[in-house]
Amino acid sequence: MDLMEIIRNRRSIRKYRSDEVPQHIINEIFEAVQLAPSANNLQPWKFIIIRNDKKKRLIAQACSGQEFIGEAPVIIVACAIGRGGYIGKYMESWPVDLAIAMTHLILSAWNKGLGTCWIGDFDEEKIQEICHIPPSVRVAAITPLGYPTKTVPPTSRRSIERIICQESFSE
Ligand SMILES: Cc1cc2nc3c(=O)[nH]c(=O)nc-3n(C[C@H](O)[C@H](O)[C@H](O)COP(=O)(O)O)c2cc1C
Repeated sequence: MDLMEIIRNRRSIRKYRSDEVPQHIINEIFEAVQLAPSANNLQPWKFIIIRNDKKKRLIAQACSGQEFIGEAPVIIVACAIGRGGYIGKYMESWPVDLAIAMTHLILSAWNKGLGTCWIGDFDEEKIQEICHIPPSVRVAAITPLGYPTKTVPPTSRRSIERIICQESFSE
């Protein structure tokens, strides 16, 4: 698929078919993740692939009970294994690095017919406990992964005129 077609058609998917996702497809998706840019090329990420039903249910509970997460055949937990430096001398680089890697994951998955849903509503301590993640490693994002059951209509976006300005900042 053309990149713009992937970006235009991608949706957050909250209902999945039970079909397994073969490991070789996951590996292909992770080739796109592997190539994501990161500050100082630190690549401060580690992704946990979860297929175990009990673990998936526990993770869904730790995501404020968003049950659809546990119904996907796979859950991916994105962890930050390093901190990196600062962006603009104030912003930690690791959440940005992880967000870029997640975006590669989500778009690459969509290119293979697989749906995801970025999950930010999770209890980090509970996820660390369920997945045996040491306290020094931060949980940056979670996504279910699986084949969507149906098409999902697009959500609204602000117009391009509203999101850009010329030469100087203006509201
Ligand atoms: C940082 C972040 C956190 C999010 N957290 C959740 C979440 O916890 N649960 C959920 O169902 N969707 C979550 N979403 C998905 C957004 O609701 C979704 O991307 C947005 O409504 C736009 O819809 P679309 O992805 O279908 O274009 C999150 C998205 C982002 C980027």
